[in-house]
Amino acid sequence: MDQFHDEEILGKAYDSRLMRRLIRYLRPYRRHAFLAIALNIAIAALGPLRPYLTKIAIDSGIAKRDGHTLLLTVLGIAGAMLFQAAAQFFNAYYTQWIGQRVILDMRMQVFEHIHRLSLRFFDRNPVGRLVTRVTNDIEALNDLFSSGIVMVFTDIFTIIWILTFMGIINLPLTLVTLSVVPFLFYATFLFRQKVRESYRQIRILIARINAFMQEHITGMPVVQLFTQEKKVFDSFEDVNAAHRDANISSVFYYAVFYPSVDLISAIAAGLIIWYGGGRALEGAITVGVLISFLQYTEMFFRPIRDLSDKYNIMQTAMASSERVFKLLDTPPAVVDGRNAIEVAKPRGRVEFRNVWFAYGDDEWVLKNVSFTIEPGESVALVGHTGAGKSSIVNLLERFYDIQRGEIFVDGTEIRSISQESLRKNIAVVMQDVFLFSGDIGFNISLGDGGIDESRIRRASEMVGVHEFIASLERGYTQPVGERGSSLSTGQKQLVSFARALAHNPSILILDEATSSVDTETELRIQCAIETLLQGRTSIVVAHRLSTIQHVDRIIVLHKGEIREMGTHQELLALNGIYRKLYDLQYKERRGKAAPPIGRDGLRDRRDGDS
Ligand SMILES: Nc1ncnc2c1ncn2[C@@H]1O[C@H](COP(=O)(O)OP(=O)(O)OP(=O)(O)O)[C@@H](O)[C@H]1O
Ligand SMILES: [Mg+2]
Repeated sequence: MDQFHDEEILGKAYDSRLMRRLIRYLRPYRRHAFLAIALNIAIAALGPLRPYLTKIAIDSGIAKRDGHTLLLTVLGIAGAMLFQAAAQFFNAYYTQWIGQRVILDMRMQVFEHIHRLSLRFFDRNPVGRLVTRVTNDIEALNDLFSSGIVMVFTDIFTIIWILTFMGIINLPLTLVTLSVVPFLFYATFLFRQKVRESYRQIRILIARINAFMQEHITGMPVVQLFTQEKKVFDSFEDVNAAHRDANISSVFYYAVFYPSVDLISAIAAGLIIWYGGGRALEGAITVGVLISFLQYTEMFFRPIRDLSDKYNIMQTAMASSERVFKLLDTPPAVVDGRNAIEVAKPRGRVEFRNVWFAYGDDEWVLKNVSFTIEPGESVALVGHTGAGKSSIVNLLERFYDIQRGEIFVDGTEIRSISQESLRKNIAVVMQDVFLFSGDIGFNISLGDGGIDESRIRRASEMVGVHEFIASLERGYTQPVGERGSSLSTGQKQLVSFARALAHNPSILILDEATSSVDTETELRIQCAIETLLQGRTSIVVAHRLSTIQHVDRIIVLHKGEIREMGTHQELLALNGIYRKLYDLQYKERRGKAAPPIGRDGLRDRRDGDS
């Protein structure tokens, strides 16, 4: 499964290059970050202070029957505990405070960056993977910021403080306690190795489950139509079972590791009692020392145990950040030139000059394509499926850059026009209409502040969809469901026309506007198209020749090359590809008269309209 290759990479738990870059996100919150670190040092020091004070209480207070010292040390312990509790509260609060802010910043950055990337990128990267970047991967970084890094500090400081206090109190006893540490390291090492592998498996499998769900929910109609449920369940069960097993194996390692650490810690305690007890009998050390050491051993092993858990968090976070940064470092394939100009309102002259284009390196999709469309002229692109019609549309919008040749809008090469102003002036009604899950009004204006209600309404009236919208319970505020699921294909089509018209572009492109509607809707859409095309440079991509009755000129594409160009009558007279297409469709409509296609027919209609 090549798709999950990125998920499989598991690098180091600490990579200074990645870490430096991550730390940069803390910059806006550095005051809080320093505060959090200071609190951590305080917490780390206050804990180990307690056994030390306990020792004083026992040896100098109880053993010497000195009530005053006893009271003071008990008060000291209570004070330290109170202070520690307060510090823990602020620490927990501020680390999350910082973590959540960093996550917001990163998520915004990734989301914005994805919007800057060119279509070529999305051809190669499945949606599920990108969603994983913005959700899971960033979440892993949240763990790093809110618990990982900071707690690692606490753990390390705690260990240092404990060792310091132990050393001050009694050095030989400290060495005895530390004699078990090699075993601890070995256990930790084994644990990390095992758990690391099962974590990696879990992550790959989660990515797989996500992708599987995503694809099958999107393709639900196909699954149900072809009654593939059983097969789909089986495949899903396989992935899920693997996920369960990977989780169980990681749980197993935890279940072995934690008690092992406790066991080692108990051995350490035993050693202290055995060795320390013997020394105490000799009178070499006091009972207070013994008790404080028993407390320290308990304290000492917990941070070490936690550190190996943190190691996993760190490792996951490093791998996640690697992936997130890789995404952020992916440059957009299509970028504005340094001196990209803004075009305010082009007249709409379009020229393709010797354009060669391929999506990959393999095959030319367009070969030496040249044509000119004058301002206000409407041109149809026809040709077999895969001929390159939609590709021409993509290129004019500059979704992709061409390999050879030039494309001009109003005489300016489109690579020297800013993408924003280019696209603002070219509206496309796509082959498959996309509606967002807002209401109808939003789907027409797309939240563009310059498009008010009256303009939405006017556009809808012009394309003949206003009546339908008004008949809905909530009119323009009727929600359309995800991807416009509550509307029919024809209705969506008309709404997308209204959208194009409301944005009032200089150049309008309709890709396959009438592929799946009934005759009545088709007629309505025809009228709508005529409205749309008026006074605008337009390109209509069509399979059904009946939908392009009113265009000025027809370009016939065949396997990426322009083979014929001219009016309907001229092309029929040529007796070439167009003639063949036309005859085929005419035959399809057996019994019906061939539609009166042509320039003259168009002129009549237009004159009648105005
Ligand atoms: N994103 C893409 N990545 C790679 N190849 C593509 C991509 N889009 C289209 N192609 C290829 O480019 C060629 C032209 O496709 P295009 O979409 O322009 O055809 P079309 O004329 O619009 O066809 P249709 O009438 O079916 O819509 C096809 O061979 C197709 O396989
Ligand atoms: Mg197409």
